[in-house]
Parts: sequence; C-alpha cells; structure tokens
Amino acid sequence: MWWKNAVIYQIYPRSFKDSNGDGIGDINGIISKLDYLNDGTEKSLGIDVVWISPMYTSPMKDFGYDVSDYYSIDPIFGTMDDFDRLITEAHKRDMFVIMDFIPNHTSDQHSWFKQSRSSRDNPKRDWYIWRNPKSHGGPPNNWIGVFGGSAWTYDKKTNQYYLHSFLPEQPDLNWRNQEVVEEMHTVMRFWLDRGVDGFRVDALYHLFKDNTFYNEPQNPIYAKEDNSYNALLHIYTQGQPELISAIADFCSVLSKYGDRFMIGEMYIGLNELIKFHKVCPYSFHVPSNFNLIVKKSDWSVRSIRKFIDNYDTSLRGDRWPNYVLANHDRPRTVTRIGKAQARVATLLLLTLRGMPFIYYGEELGMENTHIPEGKICDPCGRQDPLKGRDPERTPMQWDKQTYAGFSTHDPWLPVNHNFDTYNVESELQDPQSMLNLYRRLIRYRKQSPVLLKGKYESLDVKSRHVFAYIREHKDQKILVVLNFSSKEHKVKLNREADSARVILNTHMDKDKDIKIQLGSLVLRPNEGYVLEIEREKN
Ligand code: GLC
Repeated sequence: MWWKNAVIYQIYPRSFKDSNGDGIGDINGIISKLDYLNDGTEKSLGIDVVWISPMYTSPMKDFGYDVSDYYSIDPIFGTMDDFDRLITEAHKRDMFVIMDFIPNHTSDQHSWFKQSRSSRDNPKRDWYIWRNPKSHGGPPNNWIGVFGGSAWTYDKKTNQYYLHSFLPEQPDLNWRNQEVVEEMHTVMRFWLDRGVDGFRVDALYHLFKDNTFYNEPQNPIYAKEDNSYNALLHIYTQGQPELISAIADFCSVLSKYGDRFMIGEMYIGLNELIKFHKVCPYSFHVPSNFNLIVKKSDWSVRSIRKFIDNYDTSLRGDRWPNYVLANHDRPRTVTRIGKAQARVATLLLLTLRGMPFIYYGEELGMENTHIPEGKICDPCGRQDPLKGRDPERTPMQWDKQTYAGFSTHDPWLPVNHNFDTYNVESELQDPQSMLNLYRRLIRYRKQSPVLLKGKYESLDVKSRHVFAYIREHKDQKILVVLNFSSKEHKVKLNREADSARVILNTHMDKDKDIKIQLGSLVLRPNEGYVLEIEREKN
C-alpha cells in the first residue's frame, strides 16, 4: 500500500505549465515540470503522487468536469501519446498518477446524452434521469443544483425534464441503470490498462438520488447570505445508501490491477467521513477529508483539535486518514487564514498521521487572484463573482518572467500580481520561503517512520491558542507545537521531557538540532515547531 506514505499533489492542468504557447497548460507542460515535483534529489519537492484534474475531451463548460468522451484526451491538453508519456515519465521518477474520474454526470454534448434526449424510446433514454413536468407544469420537484437554480432543465422535444446536480450542460447519469454502471467500469479499466495508479472520483456523494423524487426539506438553519444550495437539506440527492455498494464495485474493478488507490470527493462532516472510511470492504478507498478547509473564524485550536482527535482515533488499523488544505473549488489557504497561519497549517498538514494533499502553488504561498469582470471564466463566477473559483485556479508562478514563466502567451486566467516575489525560482533561493518550508518538511517526513506511521496524541496545553501533539513510534517521539494566534504565547510542555531538539520551525530561523527547554517554551506570533523529544522523564 504505497499510497499510505504518499504526499499527493493536485495539478489543475489548465494552469500548471503551457508548452505550446496557447495560454493554457497542457500535458507536455506537466512533463517538463515533473523534475520539480520529484527528481529523486533533495532539490525537488519530493512528491509521490500527482492527481491531475480532468483532461478528457470536453466542451469545457466546467473546464473538463463536463466530459464528452471518456476514452480520449482533449486536444487542448495534448494527445493520447502525450498522456502515455506522462505516465511513463512520472513512473520513471517513482511518482504515481491518479486520474480524475467523473461518474456522476457527462457533458450534454456527449453522444450518450444526445441519443438520450433524441426520443423517449431511445435505448439511451434511461442512461439519464428524465421526469415528467408536474401536472400544472414546472419542474418535477424542488431539487436545486450545486451551482444554483433548479436541478431540472426542460427539454421541449420530448416534453420532459432532465436532472443535473451541477450545470444544465452536465446531465446526471442514471446509476440505477446497469448499462451505465458497466460502461463506467469499462472507462476505469481503459485508464488502468494505460497505467494510471488510481482515481479521484468526482462528486461521488451525489451519485445516487432517491427514486421517490420527494421534495427536499428546507434547511432550518439556512441564513440568506449563505450559499443558496444550502437552502435545502439534501437528504434525497446526496449520500444515498446505494453509494456504498457502488464504491465497493469501483474498488473491485481496481483490485484486479494490484495495488491501486481511490479517493472519492465528499464534502462531509466527521461522522459521515468515518462511516465512508469504514463501509467499503477495501481499505484503499478513502473519502476526501475537507474539514481543514475552514474560514479564518473557524481556524481555532479548539475545533481543529477536536476534529483531528476524533478523526484520528476513529481510524486505527488499516483505515487511513487524509488531510486537504486547498483545492480547485475552495479559496487558497493564504487567502483564507492569512500568510503567517498558512505556514502553521503547512506544519500541521505535513506532520499528521495520514496522507497530505497539496494543491499546486500552495507550496509557494500562492493567493487567490482578483479576476476582473471581463475575464471571469468559471460558470459559478459568472453567476456571482463572489462564488467564482477562478481566483484559486490562476497560473502556476514559476519565475519572474512575463506570465510568471507559465506561458509565452496571455494566459487563460491572469497571473497574480505577486508573482515576482512568490515564484519557484525566487523561493528556491530564499532559505525561509514557503517553498523551502514545504521541501524540508516533505523530506523530513519521508525518511521519518515516526511521522509516517507513529501514533498521534494531542496534549492539553494551558493556552487555548496553542495546539500541541505527539507522534510516537517505537522509541522515537516527535512533538509538534503550533501557535494559532498572532500573539506570543508561553507554554509548559515538560510533561514528556525537559528538552527537545529542533527539527524545524515555521520561521525557519532556529538552527536544526538546537536544544529547546520545554518547561517554558516561548512561541512567537504564528510560530510552530517540530521537535524531537530527547530524553524520557523518569
Ligand atoms: C466537483 C469538482 C468541481 C466540479 C464539480 C462538477 O465538485 O471538484 O470542480 O465543478 O464536481 O463536476
């Protein structure tokens, strides 16, 4: 189970590296930067797995999450040969490749949907979810789409509505139809045969809908300013019981290919998360844990510690935690919790038990980018600029050249104005940069059995702004101490030992191996430490 010790890096392919000068990232661009991710030496970031957001043929209404052919690569990203070469080149560098898999919906331009909508008795009709209008007209029920508005679109030709959990251009497949199930398993096999090492399964929690089609109840705690999708409780459109056997079936497809991995996208709280970690007979399926992607106001020791304590203790044995700080759908960490706390969050992410996920550019401390109105690409952003996801999808900042070295052409989204400070080339030269913090932590983690396997236990500290925990394996103990506030705090941590040796601190100004007294540890504002405990107290 190679993935247990892996550090996973998410690439949003449109924004990583453009090799052909059209302003959009592509596969050859990714290949040209694989050494940056892992060239086998201390210089590179040390990534083990790359997860690449979708590159299938797509009309790009949702930038690849609307697939019109699951068996081909969109020419904007390159060719199938390029893809095969990407797998070979990644494997050469001991990196695994996880592909985005989108089973919940296709594009409305997919030939399956075109056939399905052509007549009520077309053999593909039942591949999608069609319902009659209500007796007095209007959509079949009150279900709403994640991106806003009714989840139903009327199709004049056959006088029925089709269901879409996301955009109207993304009709939902009918997972109660066995042909759909089999076809999607064939899609998985097609890519596994080409050598991909697993899948990130998109919108997995939405896969089944209750087939009574009852209205969903109003959410009693919905506040108007909240996302309009939260106006209803999604008891009939998310997390349906049938999901469990569908996941098990995905896993049995994968299990024929030896040691593979699968992570399903699920925005769920602790209890559901633990349930989905445990229900599937295969331990190599994990539900993604987004509970660290929180607003500044929820970034508190109390709630973060409570979550991690419960999550970690619930997953012992062969079930394995995972932690995500950012992705292509949520604001970047620096934007959410600030520059200084983003470094504290990095220490947390890379010292917990379980798989850390890193979204491209997070290792540079990239921030959300302001997108002028005329440049908005994301359909959510076009509806409401405040909900747009373009700001966290802007080009990777490679160097100080025009367009941050991402392209020679005006990129599809603007480059952040801060690129001449926050870019790979400059940050590699600055020993205290975010990039070097990531590099050093990843390197340390990879060769540290205690961080990879050790037991996690949080400590009671008198200050409510300081989060401290121990990682322990055999005779080695690591102590992590994190100051979640912008004020100095003094803590007493000599319950475990009198002193400890510095491995690393967020400010990167304490020499490695320096000895720290734990009886009165002074944490500067936003400071975190990784310490190795020296001597047991008797
Ligand atoms: C997932 C993706 C998101 C996409 C949506 C619809 O949530 O992460 O980017 O828009 O599914 O496919």
